[in-house]
Order: sequence, then C-alpha cells, then structure tokens
Amino acid sequence: MPIEFHQIHPHFVAEVSGVDLSAPITSEEAQIIEDGINQHGVLVFREQNISDEQQASFSRHFGKLEVPGLKSNITKAKDRRLGKYMADISNLDRGQNILAGDSRQRMFNLGNRFWHSDSSYRSVPSKFSLLSARVVPHHGGETQFADMCAAYDALDEKTKREIDGLICEHSLLYSRGRLGFGEFTKEEKANFKPVHQTLVRHHRATGRRSLFLSAHIGRIVGWSTPVARVLLEELTEFATRPEFVYTHRWRPFDLVIWDNRRTMHRACRFDDTTEVRDMRRTTVAGETPTVTGQLEELARA
Ligand code: OGA
Ligand code: MN
Repeated sequence: MPIEFHQIHPHFVAEVSGVDLSAPITSEEAQIIEDGINQHGVLVFREQNISDEQQASFSRHFGKLEVPGLKSNITKAKDRRLGKYMADISNLDRGQNILAGDSRQRMFNLGNRFWHSDSSYRSVPSKFSLLSARVVPHHGGETQFADMCAAYDALDEKTKREIDGLICEHSLLYSRGRLGFGEFTKEEKANFKPVHQTLVRHHRATGRRSLFLSAHIGRIVGWSTPVARVLLEELTEFATRPEFVYTHRWRPFDLVIWDNRRTMHRACRFDDTTEVRDMRRTTVAGETPTVTGQLEELARA
C-alpha cells in the first residue's frame, strides 16, 4: 500500500495511511515520512500497536535520539519505568501505580500543560518528537498543537520587524518557576543554565519562518524582564488562537509525530489521580543551534 497523507486541519496536521510501524520500514519510506513531517508539521498514525524497541528503531530513521531526563533531573535512574531512550509521559510509577497526588514527579509532569516546544532549553533544541499512546483516559488528556509558521505569517508587518533578530533565554528554571518551584540546588542551577534561541526561526527544510515560543522562555536578551514577558505573553496568545490549533483526541495505539521546529504543544487536563494515561515519547535530537556561535560560547563558559 502506498503511503498517503490526508490533511485534517486548514494549516497543518495530516493523517497517514499505508504504514505498519510494527515492521521495519525502508529508507525510501522513511524519507517519504520525513518529507510529510516537513510539509504538515504533525503526522497522526492510527492503530500502531508497537513496542518501545519498535518505536525507538522507527524514530532513529530521522536522526539521533535524545536521552531524556539527563538535564531535567526529575526521576532518579532507579525509579525509571522505561528504557534509556523513552521519555515517560505517563502518570505511572515503576510499579505501574498511579502517581500520588503530591508526588514530585506528578508536579513536574504538570509542566506539559503549558504551551512549549520540547527541549527548547537545550542548546541544540530537538527536531521531532514521537508520542505513542498505550493507555488513554476516558475523559480529557488530549494534546493540542499550534502551528507557529501559520501564526508567524499572520503577524502584522510592524510586529515582524520588531521581533526580527530577538534572542530569548530558555531554561527549565523558568518553566519550573511557572509551576511555583523557586528553590533550586546548585547542581540544578548549573544544569538549567539558560540557553539562547532566536525568537524567529527559519525552517531548514521548508525555508518558512516561525515563532519559536515556549514555556521555557524567561527573558529576551537586552530587554527588561517585564517588557519581555508582556510581549511574549501577547505573542503566545496570538499564536495559540483557535485557527492555529489542532486538538488531538487520543485512541489507544495512536502514534503522533510533531516537528518541534514548527509547532508548540501542550497536554490537556484529565483526572490524573484516578485514570491511567500511559504515553511514551522518543525524541529526535536537533542538528544545529538557532543562534550561531552558541556552542562555542557554552564550551568556553
Ligand atoms: C510531550 C508532551 C503532551 C501530552 O510528550 O512532550 O508535552 O499530551 N506531551 O502528554
Ligand atoms: Mn512536550
């Protein structure tokens, strides 16, 4: 069966048919899928009952995988439920029990409810994320995506000129701060050292521009914090207007791939202390920083 894409939103997102991800795919098929991600920003694959290993080997077609948790320091190695390359997006502990209402892990997971782009706090932010639904709750727990290319295109020309060339500081210190975590250890402060990302991004594969916003942003370089925060808030509100947003209602064994270079996303509320939601993510590392010279700068620091 040929691989086909069926766009399901006016700006982005396509459903994909003609692929079985429980079997290996050819490099030609991987290229067709990568072209599809570049074109649509988000791809939805239905009925893909895959193992973690199958998910990881499929993901490797698109680049090197990130090792989750190295920087975020949320779950100690002995408490991890999943293997090295799997980000655990569930509300379960190692014993498959629902996390207690007051657990630290649950509190940090709540950060996914803010609009963000994955790993924007890394000096080289991630390329693609692949999220596989194994168990989904009866109510809620959708994931929303916002098309930051469509949002950029819709900005007025004056705003486009104003934001051209601006550099933002991204760090887990800022996104955790939003959740109310204020005290950080010396080690966390060192791990969460802010990185620089351009506010306007150029997509390598399509040449399109987008707004690179994320809950991990705390400052704009050279701006006073209040002035920066109100601009960022206004841009985020604009970019997440309903016409730029797709809401994915999960069915078990859906696999959704998104391009972090073009989209933001957030999790929606569900009854996470009584219902199970077992989602597993692999993350394809990015290839280049958005700010030239940053890697050299970080190496010197
Ligand atoms: C993620 C994420 C949102 C969700 O996996 O990176 O933010 O709905 N997930 O679980
Ligand atoms: Mn995320």
